[in-house]
Order: sequence, then structure tokens, then C-alpha cells
Amino acid sequence: MIPIKNFSAALLLPALFLFSCKTDPSANPESKSASLQVRPGDCDDPDANINCYFVNMPATLSHIMSICGEEEPGERLHLKGTVYKADGKTPLPDVLLYAYHTNNKGIYAQKGKETGVQKWHGYLHGWCRTDQNGRYEIQTIRPASYPKSTAPAHIHAAVKIPGGGKVFYINDFVFKDDPYVSERESSDPRFPGGPGMVDVVKSEKGVWTGVRNLILSD
Ligand SMILES: [Fe+2]
Repeated sequence: MIPIKNFSAALLLPALFLFSCKTDPSANPESKSASLQVRPGDCDDPDANINCYFVNMPATLSHIMSICGEEEPGERLHLKGTVYKADGKTPLPDVLLYAYHTNNKGIYAQKGKETGVQKWHGYLHGWCRTDQNGRYEIQTIRPASYPKSTAPAHIHAAVKIPGGGKVFYINDFVFKDDPYVSERESSDPRFPGGPGMVDVVKSEKGVWTGVRNLILSD
């Protein structure tokens, strides 16, 4: 929640890996429409330009973002939705969506091979590209709140408009059944796309499912 640059002591790093998300968008709302320029080395920084979120993206993407497999501890979560233009009716294809979140212990867990901003976001991250009907899906596990905190569990997400368009954060995905979540905080008007609150239900197979549609300004 707190930009790492505000701290002078690198000794604090281990603690922050446990409890904090260094690139929390709410701490940097002004960067929601950042410069498209990314220079070599820029992304090796917890407060890196938001465009760095897309640097490690695979060359080929479908509309399904699979963040982790069945081996990841936690309850399975499948989110889906449609991205629309500002009219709220016209689907927006080829939108890039990036998301990352904590594991089921509230930690931005790492495997040690992450590069760029994913060193801080951890391995529970992914990308997808909306299909011709503007649809996206995220397959992952439910994240947990930071340890010993009352912050709601959340999934950070950023969007990149096709054709060299804007790159910006959207409101975090949060979950309506979370005792720590509030309607107001999940609807920060500084971020396009609308509220991040998702009403999730558990299927017979034990998978949490939810829908969130995004309406993006032009
Ligand atoms: Fe976070």
C-alpha cells in the first residue's frame, strides 16, 4: 500500500514483501494514464511505470488469463466479463488486461524467477486479450487479505487499450462477501471501468465464480 521509495532503509524490504503491495494503484492515482515510453531498466523498480506491467507479456494471448494451476493452494476462482466502449453497449476487442494478486495467505508470493515489476507482483499474475466480443476470463485462486490486516482481499488490474491507446489501472477486483470490503472504496471514480466489487458464488464443484463488466472511456 505504501510506495517503497518512501522508505530509505532496504532493511524494510522483507517485511514489505509480506504485508504490502508496492505498486498499489491507490497510492499512485496520477499514474493511471502514464506515458507509453518504457526505457531499458525502467521496469526493475517496484514503482515502475504502469507500461512495465505489459513488458513480460507473452506474444500470443487468448481471452482467458490462467494465473495458476490446480496445484496452487486455495479456493479456485473464475471471473469473467465483457469490456465495453463508453456507450456501455459496444464490445471492445483486443483490450489487454493484466492482473496480479496475493496468494491464499495474503502474500505477493515469488518463485525467484520473476523479472521486472513481477519481482514485486509475484508469480500470481497474468495477461489476456479480449476476444471479438470483448470478453475476458480470469482463472485463478481467491487471494487473501494481507496478513494481520483489515484490507479487503483484492486483485490489482490494469488495462491497455489497443492501437497504442491509454494504459491505466482499473478499480481492484474485490469480493462482496469479504467482511473488510466497502462499496465506496471499491468504486473509486479516479479509475475507469466502474466498480470493482464482484458478487461471487460457489459452484457445486467448489469454484467461486463472478462477473464484472468494464465500461471504458474513449
Ligand atoms: Fe495489493
